[in-house]
Amino acid sequence: MNDVDYRSLAEQYGTPLYVYQGDKIESRYRLLRSCLPETFEVFYSVKCNPLLGVCQLFRELGSGIEVASLGELRMALQAGFKPGDIIFTSPGKSMEELEAAIDCGIYSINVESVEEARRINAIAMRRNALAKISVRINPNFNFSGAGMKMTGVPTQFGIDQSEMAEAMDEILSLPYVSLIGIHVFSGTQMLNADLIVRNLAEVMKLAVELSEAHDLALQFLDLGGGFGVPYFQREQELDTDKLRLGLSELWEQYGEKLRGVRIGVESGRFLLAESGVFLTKVLYVKDCKGAKYVVCDGGSNQHASSAFLGRYVRNNFPMRLHGKDGEETEEANVVGSLCTPTDVIGQKVRLAKAEAGDLLVVEKSGAYGLTHSPVLFLSHALPAEIMIYRDEVHVLRERGKAEDCLHGQRSLLTGRSVRDEYVYSI
Ligand SMILES: Cc1ncc(COP(=O)(O)O)c(C=O)c1O
Repeated sequence: MNDVDYRSLAEQYGTPLYVYQGDKIESRYRLLRSCLPETFEVFYSVKCNPLLGVCQLFRELGSGIEVASLGELRMALQAGFKPGDIIFTSPGKSMEELEAAIDCGIYSINVESVEEARRINAIAMRRNALAKISVRINPNFNFSGAGMKMTGVPTQFGIDQSEMAEAMDEILSLPYVSLIGIHVFSGTQMLNADLIVRNLAEVMKLAVELSEAHDLALQFLDLGGGFGVPYFQREQELDTDKLRLGLSELWEQYGEKLRGVRIGVESGRFLLAESGVFLTKVLYVKDCKGAKYVVCDGGSNQHASSAFLGRYVRNNFPMRLHGKDGEETEEANVVGSLCTPTDVIGQKVRLAKAEAGDLLVVEKSGAYGLTHSPVLFLSHALPAEIMIYRDEVHVLRERGKAEDCLHGQRSLLTGRSVRDEYVYSI
């Protein structure tokens, strides 16, 4: 995204700022689709970037959608997704969430325990409805290729494969539940095409075996995904040609056995990460005990992933100073404005010599950016989020205001909503 005039965007929409490229999202979606056998579907994982405008784009592209909360379900509906294209996965769905999912008749609630299936059955019984569910399994296999593993190791996700036989018997006996599918999500940030294919082969094998063993007329197989992107120099781009070939061979093997089954993959990071940047302005540059600090107006409270939150590996996102490509570099620590030494979005990075007023561009920030950040910490306003799509700039989230931190709060003294009382202006 080197040719975008970030300077003018930053001036117009303020910093910090997220900038997404709609055309790039579109091409990533088409690339992923091109790797999958024709009949497979992509379900966009809202968690990676829950902007309404992003969800709308995926709807236009013909994707399904995977939600993980009531808020995300509302977002999906608001974006125009039909209930028949929505699936809901989360290990901790509340009664309110289950009721909403059943009432709007989504395609599949991916259940993560037998108890959840019992609750769904009870809710559906009260409504005299039939709720469609899939079982999420934590299988015995795991693949070392995932940046974050969710199967083959103890986790809160899914039903342990060793308990599946008993679980299936009970779930299949529930009268207000229709077990339509099987779901496995092995992990995220996988970059090895061979390992992805081997993993999906195991998932297909398991689904076929379980369906046969329990006489289940399988309608839906959610294969998960975990398609990754390289963030760091030592990481290699996912080989999509290899993936396409591997999946096509796999489908030759399983196509007959899974004929008529709706097959989906879930994806967030692969579609979004490389389609967005985080822009933040340099406020101060200082030296301290031999180290250089570039203090910016945005930090871990808006881009926690870049500050290593939720990641096992402490590696820097690719970043650069706008308009200073090719200049001599020096080692610097890029920090935000929080009063904590953990507010470091770039640790010992090589940057051109920074000056106050420079614009720092953090690449690969389209997924798990703002949504993954502790935005309440220190009460800074939310950054704007904009999308450039077909040569037009769309504001998808307006820049917040300092007083937004009072939203929803009530006065200790009067009990009244601060909104009604807020009089102080500067
Ligand atoms: C169940 C499930 N589906 C989909 C995703 C999205 O993964 P990714 O963004 O790596 O594609 C996740 C991420 O944690 C997940 O837990």
